[in-house]
Amino acid sequence: MYVLELAGQDDRFAAAEAATAASDVTPIAAGLATARGLDDGFETLSFTHRAAEAIGRTDASVESAVALLEAATVDRSGTVAVRARDVRSTTGIDTQAAERALGDVLVERGFAVDLDDPDHVLQALFAGRDGASAVGPDGDPGIDRSADPDAGVCALGWLAAETDRDFADRQPTDRPFFQPGSMDPALARALVNLAGGEPGATVLDPMCGTGGLLLEAGRVGATPIGGDVQAKMVRGTRENLRALLAGPWHLYRGDARRIPLADDSVDGVVFDAPYGRQSRIEGDLEGLVADALTEARRVADRGVVVGDRSWAAAAEAAGWTVEATFARRVHRSLVRHVVMLR
Ligand SMILES: C[S@@+](CC[C@H](N)C(=O)[O-])C[C@H]1O[C@@H](n2cnc3c(N)ncnc32)[C@H](O)[C@@H]1O
Repeated sequence: MYVLELAGQDDRFAAAEAATAASDVTPIAAGLATARGLDDGFETLSFTHRAAEAIGRTDASVESAVALLEAATVDRSGTVAVRARDVRSTTGIDTQAAERALGDVLVERGFAVDLDDPDHVLQALFAGRDGASAVGPDGDPGIDRSADPDAGVCALGWLAAETDRDFADRQPTDRPFFQPGSMDPALARALVNLAGGEPGATVLDPMCGTGGLLLEAGRVGATPIGGDVQAKMVRGTRENLRALLAGPWHLYRGDARRIPLADDSVDGVVFDAPYGRQSRIEGDLEGLVADALTEARRVADRGVVVGDRSWAAAAEAAGWTVEATFARRVHRSLVRHVVMLR
């Protein structure tokens, strides 16, 4: 069993992404989830920081954490360090006191402490229940409320894997071709994972804009295929992919209502549909997205559609099954709606 430390503010969204690279992901408290196993693509996750091999779980006090560690068997040797966190500042715990007290338990067991380069890192994750309410009433996976629902938790575990958040320090403005409204790379990475991006897979974005989703698809090891109706966007995306991606990719200029690919030829489709306030859309937006969803369904059996409104009903009308929907506030006047499709 593993404990996952989630990133961002929406645990349901983070858990859905984590479920693409871990099994039985179950939120347990604000910013924390458990998982039964980790899969290969774990390090590409965007909204998970790290995973620890679970020792156990208790209430959110230093005394309880110490008691848990004292009772645990530790079949490890080498040097250790303890890292305590007050996840999202939800418990107000004194993390330094927690690190000292838990460190003392390990020293008593004969471990040497090495803060710079330890062989093993013991993680003590203190988290309140509050953020867990981010999981909606229809939320699946739901909250495990087997412990006292009012108390916070402390999850103890040995650091097992960290995600490789190399996208987090790259901004769309640093790319050769940039346009206002380009998607944040962290969100693009998560959407690509939700659409099935992984080594060996092909991922299509038929409305690729500046190519942000294609870049992340390439970075997780998938082969990106992109199209856009505007020649300027295709040229710009080509510049971006040439500069920033080593592996193979394909681009075309074309209409998302007539994707130039054979039936069932890609593993996943992901697209950020035009927003109502964008002016360049010919014809009506509803008709365009409905037709694009039908075409997407023809070429793939997994997808993610994003927009300034939920395209869930249009997706169902196009033959998709809606797996989950999420609403993510970008700024005061823009909420991005994410719909996961099968
Ligand atoms: C919201 S933007 C995508 C933004 C992109 N995610 C990014 O980070 O740059 C939508 C894109 O859809 C394209 N588009 C609009 N109508 C289209 C159509 N019928 N077929 C293909 N692309 C279309 C627009 O040219 C625009 O680049």
